[in-house]
Amino acid sequence: MTRSEISRVARPKGQAIATYDCLSRWYDCLSSSSEWPLAEQGLNKLNVNAGETVLEIGFGTGHALLALANAVGESGRAIGIDISQGMFKVASNRIARANLSCRITLGQGDAAALCFQANYFDAIFISFTLELFDTPEIAIVLSECRRVLKVDGRICVVAMARDEHENLPQRIYEWFHQYLPAYVDCRPIYVQMALMKAGFQIQQVTRKQMWGLPVEICIAQNPREKNDE
Ligand SMILES: C[S@@+](CC[C@H](N)C(=O)[O-])C[C@H]1O[C@@H](n2cnc3c(N)ncnc32)[C@H](O)[C@@H]1O
Repeated sequence: MTRSEISRVARPKGQAIATYDCLSRWYDCLSSSSEWPLAEQGLNKLNVNAGETVLEIGFGTGHALLALANAVGESGRAIGIDISQGMFKVASNRIARANLSCRITLGQGDAAALCFQANYFDAIFISFTLELFDTPEIAIVLSECRRVLKVDGRICVVAMARDEHENLPQRIYEWFHQYLPAYVDCRPIYVQMALMKAGFQIQQVTRKQMWGLPVEICIAQNPREKNDE
Protein backbone atom coordinates (compact mmCIF):
# COMPACT_ATOMS: atom_id res chain seq x y z
CA MET A 1 0.00 0.00 0.00
CA THR A 2 1.34 3.45 -0.88
CA ARG A 3 1.03 5.92 1.96
CA SER A 4 0.84 9.66 1.59
CA GLU A 5 4.11 11.40 2.41
CA ILE A 6 4.59 12.87 5.87
CA SER A 7 5.10 16.64 5.99
CA ARG A 8 8.67 17.96 5.86
CA VAL A 9 10.24 19.96 8.72
CA ALA A 10 11.49 23.14 7.11
CA ARG A 11 12.87 25.07 10.08
CA PRO A 12 16.65 25.05 10.57
CA LYS A 13 18.24 23.42 13.64
CA GLY A 14 19.17 26.85 15.02
CA GLN A 15 15.50 27.69 15.21
CA ALA A 16 14.74 24.41 17.01
CA ILE A 17 17.39 25.31 19.60
CA ALA A 18 15.95 28.82 20.04
CA THR A 19 12.38 27.48 20.37
CA TYR A 20 13.24 24.86 23.00
CA ASP A 21 15.55 27.24 24.88
CA CYS A 22 12.60 29.61 25.12
CA LEU A 23 10.12 26.86 26.07
CA SER A 24 12.37 25.17 28.61
CA ARG A 25 11.31 27.14 31.71
CA TRP A 26 7.60 26.47 31.28
CA TYR A 27 7.65 23.28 29.21
CA ASP A 28 6.41 21.22 32.17
CA CYS A 29 3.19 23.28 32.28
CA LEU A 30 2.53 22.29 28.65
CA SER A 31 3.49 18.63 28.87
CA SER A 32 2.48 17.47 32.37
CA SER A 33 -1.09 16.54 31.42
CA SER A 34 -0.53 15.72 27.74
CA GLU A 35 2.83 14.22 26.75
CA TRP A 36 4.11 13.09 30.13
CA PRO A 37 1.37 10.49 30.94
CA LEU A 38 2.03 8.85 27.54
CA ALA A 39 5.81 9.01 28.00
CA GLU A 40 5.35 7.27 31.37
CA GLN A 41 3.45 4.45 29.68
CA GLY A 42 6.33 4.10 27.23
CA LEU A 43 8.82 3.92 30.10
CA ASN A 44 6.80 1.15 31.75
CA LYS A 45 6.74 -0.82 28.51
CA LEU A 46 10.49 -0.36 27.97
CA ASN A 47 10.90 -2.04 31.36
CA VAL A 48 14.46 -0.98 32.11
CA ASN A 49 16.31 -3.24 34.58
CA ALA A 50 18.89 -2.63 37.29
CA GLY A 51 22.44 -2.43 35.93
CA GLU A 52 21.44 -1.44 32.40
CA THR A 53 22.89 1.45 30.40
CA VAL A 54 20.14 3.51 28.77
CA LEU A 55 20.00 6.50 26.45
CA GLU A 56 17.27 9.11 26.22
CA ILE A 57 17.15 11.22 23.06
CA GLY A 58 15.53 14.65 23.52
CA PHE A 59 15.33 14.53 27.32
CA GLY A 60 13.51 17.86 27.65
CA THR A 61 13.09 18.85 31.29
CA GLY A 62 14.47 15.51 32.53
CA HIS A 63 11.43 13.68 33.95
CA ALA A 64 12.07 10.46 32.06
CA LEU A 65 15.78 10.50 32.94
CA LEU A 66 14.88 10.46 36.65
CA ALA A 67 12.64 7.44 36.09
CA LEU A 68 15.35 5.73 34.03
CA ALA A 69 18.02 6.46 36.66
CA ASN A 70 15.80 4.96 39.37
CA ALA A 71 15.21 1.88 37.21
CA VAL A 72 18.90 1.25 36.42
CA GLY A 73 19.88 1.68 40.08
CA GLU A 74 23.34 2.28 41.44
CA SER A 75 24.99 -0.20 39.08
CA GLY A 76 23.46 1.25 35.91
CA ARG A 77 23.70 4.47 33.97
CA ALA A 78 21.25 6.82 32.24
CA ILE A 79 22.61 9.09 29.53
CA GLY A 80 20.66 11.85 27.84
CA ILE A 81 21.21 13.99 24.77
CA ASP A 82 19.28 17.13 23.89
CA ILE A 83 20.00 19.94 21.46
CA SER A 84 18.75 22.76 23.72
CA GLN A 85 20.91 24.41 26.35
CA GLY A 86 17.79 25.67 28.12
CA MET A 87 16.48 22.12 28.48
CA PHE A 88 19.94 20.99 29.58
CA LYS A 89 19.90 23.53 32.45
CA VAL A 90 16.35 22.68 33.59
CA ALA A 91 17.07 18.94 33.48
CA SER A 92 20.44 19.36 35.28
CA ASN A 93 18.75 21.24 38.11
CA ARG A 94 16.01 18.62 38.42
CA ILE A 95 18.59 15.80 38.51
CA ALA A 96 20.72 17.62 41.12
CA ARG A 97 17.64 18.21 43.32
CA ALA A 98 16.85 14.49 43.11
CA ASN A 99 20.45 13.61 44.08
CA LEU A 100 20.80 11.47 40.97
CA SER A 101 23.70 13.23 39.27
CA CYS A 102 25.95 10.24 39.97
CA ARG A 103 23.79 7.96 37.77
CA ILE A 104 22.97 10.38 34.94
CA THR A 105 25.17 11.98 32.28
CA LEU A 106 23.73 14.76 30.15
CA GLY A 107 25.01 15.83 26.77
CA GLN A 108 24.05 18.75 24.60
CA GLY A 109 23.98 17.99 20.88
CA ASP A 110 22.16 16.83 17.79
CA ALA A 111 20.85 13.28 17.97
CA ALA A 112 21.34 12.89 14.22
CA ALA A 113 25.02 12.27 15.03
CA LEU A 114 25.34 10.28 18.25
CA CYS A 115 28.76 10.50 19.84
CA PHE A 116 28.69 7.02 21.39
CA GLN A 117 30.51 3.84 20.49
CA ALA A 118 28.66 1.00 18.74
CA ASN A 119 26.84 -1.68 20.80
CA TYR A 120 26.89 0.45 23.96
CA PHE A 121 23.28 0.75 25.18
CA ASP A 122 20.81 -1.83 26.47
CA ALA A 123 17.84 0.42 25.77
CA ILE A 124 16.91 3.74 24.15
CA PHE A 125 13.92 5.96 24.96
CA ILE A 126 12.60 8.71 22.65
CA SER A 127 9.37 10.52 23.47
CA PHE A 128 7.82 13.26 21.36
CA THR A 129 11.16 13.95 19.67
CA LEU A 130 11.48 11.68 16.60
CA GLU A 131 8.67 13.65 14.88
CA LEU A 132 10.79 16.83 15.15
CA PHE A 133 13.36 15.56 12.65
CA ASP A 134 12.95 16.21 8.94
CA THR A 135 12.00 13.14 6.89
CA PRO A 136 15.50 12.10 5.71
CA GLU A 137 16.87 12.61 9.24
CA ILE A 138 14.37 10.22 10.86
CA ALA A 139 16.14 7.36 9.07
CA ILE A 140 19.54 8.74 10.13
CA VAL A 141 18.52 9.04 13.80
CA LEU A 142 17.10 5.51 13.87
CA SER A 143 20.13 4.10 12.10
CA GLU A 144 22.33 5.80 14.72
CA CYS A 145 20.11 4.26 17.42
CA ARG A 146 20.64 0.83 15.89
CA ARG A 147 24.38 1.39 15.76
CA VAL A 148 24.73 2.32 19.43
CA LEU A 149 22.26 -0.32 20.70
CA LYS A 150 23.51 -3.75 21.65
CA VAL A 151 22.13 -6.73 19.74
CA ASP A 152 18.73 -7.55 21.27
CA GLY A 153 18.68 -4.06 22.81
CA ARG A 154 15.26 -2.38 22.98
CA ILE A 155 14.02 0.96 21.79
CA CYS A 156 10.82 2.72 22.84
CA VAL A 157 9.49 5.47 20.58
CA VAL A 158 6.50 7.52 21.76
CA ALA A 159 5.39 9.79 18.92
CA MET A 160 2.46 11.42 17.19
CA ALA A 161 1.38 8.91 14.56
CA ARG A 162 0.10 9.62 11.09
CA ASP A 163 -3.15 7.95 10.02
CA GLU A 164 -3.90 7.36 6.34
CA HIS A 165 -7.34 8.90 6.85
CA GLU A 166 -6.75 12.15 8.69
CA ASN A 167 -9.33 13.31 11.22
CA LEU A 168 -10.10 16.97 11.95
CA PRO A 169 -7.57 17.42 14.81
CA GLN A 170 -4.85 15.99 12.54
CA ARG A 171 -5.75 18.36 9.72
CA ILE A 172 -5.75 21.35 12.07
CA TYR A 173 -2.40 20.29 13.53
CA GLU A 174 -0.85 19.84 10.07
CA TRP A 175 -2.16 23.30 9.11
CA PHE A 176 -0.35 24.90 12.07
CA HIS A 177 2.77 22.90 11.24
CA GLN A 178 2.69 24.21 7.68
CA TYR A 179 1.98 27.87 8.42
CA LEU A 180 3.63 28.33 11.85
CA PRO A 181 6.66 26.00 11.58
CA ALA A 182 8.64 27.96 14.18
CA TYR A 183 6.02 27.15 16.86
CA VAL A 184 4.61 23.81 15.67
CA ASP A 185 7.80 22.18 14.46
CA CYS A 186 6.74 18.54 14.75
CA ARG A 187 4.14 16.55 12.81
CA PRO A 188 2.62 13.04 12.86
CA ILE A 189 4.90 10.34 11.40
CA TYR A 190 4.65 6.63 10.45
CA VAL A 191 6.36 5.39 13.59
CA GLN A 192 6.26 1.62 12.99
CA MET A 193 7.25 1.93 9.34
CA ALA A 194 10.24 4.14 10.25
CA LEU A 195 11.42 1.62 12.84
CA MET A 196 11.02 -1.33 10.47
CA LYS A 197 12.81 0.49 7.63
CA ALA A 198 15.73 1.08 10.00
CA GLY A 199 15.90 -2.68 10.61
CA PHE A 200 14.22 -2.90 14.02
CA GLN A 201 11.82 -5.71 14.87
CA ILE A 202 8.55 -4.40 16.24
CA GLN A 203 7.63 -6.06 19.53
CA GLN A 204 4.59 -4.12 20.67
CA VAL A 205 2.51 -1.17 19.49
CA THR A 206 -0.01 0.67 21.65
CA ARG A 207 -2.28 3.32 20.13
CA LYS A 208 -3.35 6.27 22.28
CA GLN A 209 -4.66 9.78 21.69
CA MET A 210 -3.52 13.24 22.71
CA TRP A 211 -5.72 16.26 21.87
CA GLY A 212 -7.61 13.95 19.45
CA LEU A 213 -4.35 13.10 17.64
CA PRO A 214 -3.14 9.48 17.41
CA VAL A 215 -0.02 8.67 19.40
CA GLU A 216 1.87 5.39 19.14
CA ILE A 217 4.01 3.80 21.80
CA CYS A 218 6.27 1.37 19.91
CA ILE A 219 8.67 -1.08 21.47
CA ALA A 220 11.15 -2.62 19.05
CA GLN A 221 14.27 -4.72 19.26
CA ASN A 222 17.65 -4.53 17.55
CA PRO A 223 17.73 -7.93 15.87
CA ARG A 224 20.55 -10.41 16.09
CA GLU A 225 21.08 -10.29 12.29
CA LYS A 226 22.85 -6.95 12.81
CA ASN A 227 26.23 -8.70 13.03
CA ASP A 228 25.61 -10.67 9.82
CA GLU A 229 25.06 -7.58 7.67
C1 LIG B 1 8.76 18.01 22.35
S1 LIG B 1 10.17 18.01 23.39
C2 LIG B 1 9.96 16.45 24.26
C3 LIG B 1 10.76 16.41 25.52
C4 LIG B 1 10.64 15.10 26.31
N1 LIG B 1 11.12 13.96 25.57
C5 LIG B 1 9.20 14.88 26.74
O1 LIG B 1 8.58 13.90 26.29
O2 LIG B 1 8.71 15.69 27.56
C6 LIG B 1 11.45 17.65 22.25
C7 LIG B 1 12.85 17.70 22.83
O3 LIG B 1 13.76 17.28 21.80
C8 LIG B 1 14.87 18.18 21.78
N2 LIG B 1 15.42 18.18 20.42
C9 LIG B 1 14.94 18.79 19.32
N3 LIG B 1 15.71 18.56 18.25
C10 LIG B 1 16.73 17.78 18.68
C11 LIG B 1 17.89 17.20 18.05
N4 LIG B 1 18.14 17.41 16.75
N5 LIG B 1 18.73 16.46 18.80
C12 LIG B 1 18.50 16.26 20.14
N6 LIG B 1 17.43 16.78 20.79
C13 LIG B 1 16.55 17.51 20.08
C14 LIG B 1 14.27 19.52 22.20
O4 LIG B 1 15.26 20.41 22.70
C15 LIG B 1 13.26 19.08 23.27
O5 LIG B 1 13.84 19.01 24.54
